[in-house]
Amino acid sequence: MRFFLNTIAGAMKTRRTKISELLKSEQTGIDVHVKGWVRTKRGNKHVSFIALNDGSSINSIQIVADPAIISEETLKKVTTGASIAVDGQLVESQGAGQSVEVHAKSLEVLGVADPEKYPLQPKKHSFEFLRDIAHLRPRTNTFGAVLRMRHAMSFAVHKFFNDKGFNYMHTPIITGSDAEGAGEMFRVTTLDANTPPLGEDGKVDFTEDFFGKETNLTVSGQLEGELGATAVGEIYTFGPTFRAENSNTTRHLAEFWMIEPEMAFYDLEDNMDLAEEFLKYLTQYALDHCADDLAFLENRLLDEEKNKPANERSEMTLTEKLRFVAENNFERVTYTEAIDILRNSNPNKKKKFQYLVEGWGTDLQSEHERYLVEKHFKKPVILTNYPKDIKSFYMRMDDDGKTVAAMDILFPGIGEIVGGSQREERLEVLVNRMDEMGVPKEDLEWYLDTRRYGTVPHSGFGLGFERLMIFVTGLGNIRDVIPFPRTPGNAEF
Ligand code: 4AD
Ligand code: MG
Repeated sequence: MRFFLNTIAGAMKTRRTKISELLKSEQTGIDVHVKGWVRTKRGNKHVSFIALNDGSSINSIQIVADPAIISEETLKKVTTGASIAVDGQLVESQGAGQSVEVHAKSLEVLGVADPEKYPLQPKKHSFEFLRDIAHLRPRTNTFGAVLRMRHAMSFAVHKFFNDKGFNYMHTPIITGSDAEGAGEMFRVTTLDANTPPLGEDGKVDFTEDFFGKETNLTVSGQLEGELGATAVGEIYTFGPTFRAENSNTTRHLAEFWMIEPEMAFYDLEDNMDLAEEFLKYLTQYALDHCADDLAFLENRLLDEEKNKPANERSEMTLTEKLRFVAENNFERVTYTEAIDILRNSNPNKKKKFQYLVEGWGTDLQSEHERYLVEKHFKKPVILTNYPKDIKSFYMRMDDDGKTVAAMDILFPGIGEIVGGSQREERLEVLVNRMDEMGVPKEDLEWYLDTRRYGTVPHSGFGLGFERLMIFVTGLGNIRDVIPFPRTPGNAEF
């Protein structure tokens, strides 16, 4: 009995309705209790209108405070950024812009925010400024939307694979092999940087290090993922990935999140089909589950583009772009066909590309990828069968001996969003490739065992989660779709 009473008392004390629920409420006239952070306060001697947001929705609820009920002293502390708790009545709103509002019966200021100091005053802030205060930026509409959508998209990733019977596999963050060659690595060590133990050759003696060998942060979970796929059939990883490349672009992070499915018995075509279905699913999921945030981000983008010359504005709004991707087939083209298209393209002939496309065999730059997607095909493109010399050792050799069964998916505004391949399952061919490319076999005996014992055709790909987030949010810089970006020279917070 005592327990029962305690529970009720506890529930009464903390009863709070989230603002997202209140805004949907069909019942008015009821007493409600809301808590949140003040976005703005306006009004006059006779009434105050407070826009209150608790992060459950991009939309705020309007609190109407009558100075006859709420003391002037209290209302003075209700400034942008302060946290408050309000008891009041939910009523149909007379004003435009909201259907319901709360008429305050009592109002408690939980935490003040000194208006002289609070950096997030209600006005437009540049993204550059907001990056410097990344610890507060989730309180803005844009970054609140990004945070909620990152969650929704992560959940969708797990749902997609779970519904297909894939297993979520946790591959190591600290790796002892530097083999994949996907990028420069960050060293993990406990050795003293000032006085490391030296061997007889004068080099650092890593046998004295924590793991007794050199270790790094992972650049990809793929190779370990292949061990899972060749045991349980289908796996996916979804974890942090680290690359110490000095790429200061709007599409590169030193720490990003990657999703890497790996499937036994899939060939290149199965792989492309899965990747295309996956991207369409995620896009549709955003449309179905993030409507309010998308509507806000779409308007933000329209606003931003007003200042651009007409020929630089997007032809589609954000949601039109998402719908287009969800509903249309991707174009599948070989690298060789793409080179022909690029070589004969206007920007190439008129020398408008920074890197001119001349011969077969060089890697595509992002200007080329974007030309194919945005100007030529005007839809997502899957490029396949790249020259073996510009791709990784593990990709399956094509019969021509010149290309490999690779596939990259290129998206508008982004360029490469997915990279993958069918894997080389033939032991001798794989070993040959490793020798040719100087990949140390002694570090990868465990990997080669998958080809020694019961090898099977298999495939996989990697989707950069933040590149996906750039696409679904319409934001232009990868630093703005992850809460705390890590880039060269920047690891704040
Ligand atoms: O093309 P990548 O390097 O492929 C791999 O790592 C393979 N092991 C994947 C696989 O087959 N399992 O990277 C895959 C994707 C890229 O297409 C891109 O979306 C993203 O990861 N990516 C980055 N995202 C943000 N910042 C970076 N520095 C990135 N590097 C790659
Ligand atoms: Mg790639």
